[in-house]
Amino acid sequence: MCGIIGVCSIDRNIAPMISLGLRRLEYRGYDSVGVAIVGEGGIQVWKAKGDVDSFLSRFKVDSIAGRTGLGHTRWATHGPPNDVNAHPHMDCRGKIAVVHNGVLRNFVALKNILELRGHSIVSETDTELIAHLIEDEKHFSSSFFEAFVRAVSRLEGSYAIAVVNEDEPHRVYFARVKSPLIIGVGNGFNAVASDIPAVIEYTRRIIVLDDGELGWITPGEVKVFKLTDEGLMEVSREEILSRVVFIEWGVEAASKHGYPHFMLKEIVEQPDSVRSTYEGNVSDPVLETIASLLASSDNIIVTGAGTSYHAGLTFTYYLANIAGRHSIPIIASEHRILEGAVGRGDVVVAISQSGETFDTLEAVRAFRRRGARVVGVTNVVGSALSREADIAVYMRAGPEIGVAATKTFTSQIMLLTLISIYTARETGLLGGSEVKVEVASLAEAPNIVRESIGRSLEIISDRELGEHRSAYILGRGLGAHVAKEAALKIKEIAYVHAESYPAGESKHGPIALIDEGFPVYFAATTDSPEITGNIMEMAARGARVVVVKPEDYKLPVGVKEAKTVEMPPTRGDIKLDPYALTPYFQILAYKEAVARGYNPDKPRNLAKTVTVE
Ligand code: M6R
Repeated sequence: MCGIIGVCSIDRNIAPMISLGLRRLEYRGYDSVGVAIVGEGGIQVWKAKGDVDSFLSRFKVDSIAGRTGLGHTRWATHGPPNDVNAHPHMDCRGKIAVVHNGVLRNFVALKNILELRGHSIVSETDTELIAHLIEDEKHFSSSFFEAFVRAVSRLEGSYAIAVVNEDEPHRVYFARVKSPLIIGVGNGFNAVASDIPAVIEYTRRIIVLDDGELGWITPGEVKVFKLTDEGLMEVSREEILSRVVFIEWGVEAASKHGYPHFMLKEIVEQPDSVRSTYEGNVSDPVLETIASLLASSDNIIVTGAGTSYHAGLTFTYYLANIAGRHSIPIIASEHRILEGAVGRGDVVVAISQSGETFDTLEAVRAFRRRGARVVGVTNVVGSALSREADIAVYMRAGPEIGVAATKTFTSQIMLLTLISIYTARETGLLGGSEVKVEVASLAEAPNIVRESIGRSLEIISDRELGEHRSAYILGRGLGAHVAKEAALKIKEIAYVHAESYPAGESKHGPIALIDEGFPVYFAATTDSPEITGNIMEMAARGARVVVVKPEDYKLPVGVKEAKTVEMPPTRGDIKLDPYALTPYFQILAYKEAVARGYNPDKPRNLAKTVTVE
């Protein structure tokens, strides 16, 4: 979590670049904000608890002069959100400033050593220790860079850091391990940042740094080194140049484009993102490679966190019902449960929008150590998952800024459904021409999702859930997975306790909570007509029941007591149901959050990319 940026320019004041970068990085954390600018009189720092916009206007950041600087937006780990714990942090003499994204595991040991050596540590953060550590190492080093390298090699845990020092006012040092960091290569300037949107207004030429890389940028130079067991190795200029990628998407994709929130923009973008996933992958040979791996593997394990895990659940459904392959879903943070049973011959499908989620990466590492091969499904080219997996495949959904995953969920389902169909050809369940028919049927998904968004925007009222603090969101079969994702959306942005379990379980306990008016929503998918019984049992006990279903799906028995919401038809094709039903719940959660006065782009206590344990 946390967003960092560091910029140095030859001829312009960089404060506006840092301001914009902070706005773009705010999705990574919004507990506090800070800026350091290296000017004539040394390094000046401004920092405060609160959000980016208030900070920028309170300190008139855009008008601060200086050509080198840092910015930070925080998701608190060590120490509560307050002015003192806000980054940047400085050494004892105020000559070094540091911003950091990550968590230092050896925080306590480092703090004890530094205090014994007389450093005065003013915050509760692990980050401040880095500034003091560099200051300390300067006594044993012939250059600032040497001190920086010595300090970095003493850090354990995860970090992406950017550092400025008063004696070299045109340079930003950087290092990364397990937290993302990119370099934006500009004309007359260079920048480091946690993510591409932070620099996209200014440059589309990007280098994605690898784990263990460190170095510096000046306005006209990028120097990258690798910290290996054999020592420091410089990455050649040719290699750096060959790693520069040109980002196709631009400013518009990373801005709200007239929508009040990124979340709404991204919900509405789904016809395009789903189409892009489909068209961008349908003929990609990597899908065939993955399919043959899955068909011939001993076991298939599917892992991810949050929304990505829910997409993974739909994958287990499609793999079983289209390709005839059993797979084991496991929440990434619970990977230890399976670890002992995983070995060579097994394939792990790890799903992560960001490709940087700590839990998912740890699961990948653990399973790889056991000899399993890993397929990484991600939206971010160059992300840690894409580099650590044996095979990477991309969602191509475009950047998702809203903390609540929306368009990437439907894109994940699209990509995983394509993989399931190709796997069916390998397992012999579908012949060549049948595969073509199945794949072609998915081309309808963007239209279904568009229609579903249109209907949902129209029919869902602002306060669907009224004053209720709890709701059940239920489904059966595939619908149980759609419902799980729906409940997560409602919880995380509307702060309503929405619980989801397979609808057949009601009678085994949860139905005890039902009283007059308790909201129960059903995501009725075309594979599970038995859901009618579950709808009736809830309605009979006075629940306020809403059944969301494709309009051409006729439930076997009409349930008069339940309100039915008709979503676009899916012709009984279970592959298309998620596109008909998902937008309804995304929009319900969005409207509910806004009507209750919450900002859906910045749900409390959350951040977009969860890079901590
Ligand atoms: O980047 P990832 O897909 O790995 O993220 C996983 C979860 O952190 C993420 O889906 C989270 O649950 C979102 N807040 C859901 O909206």
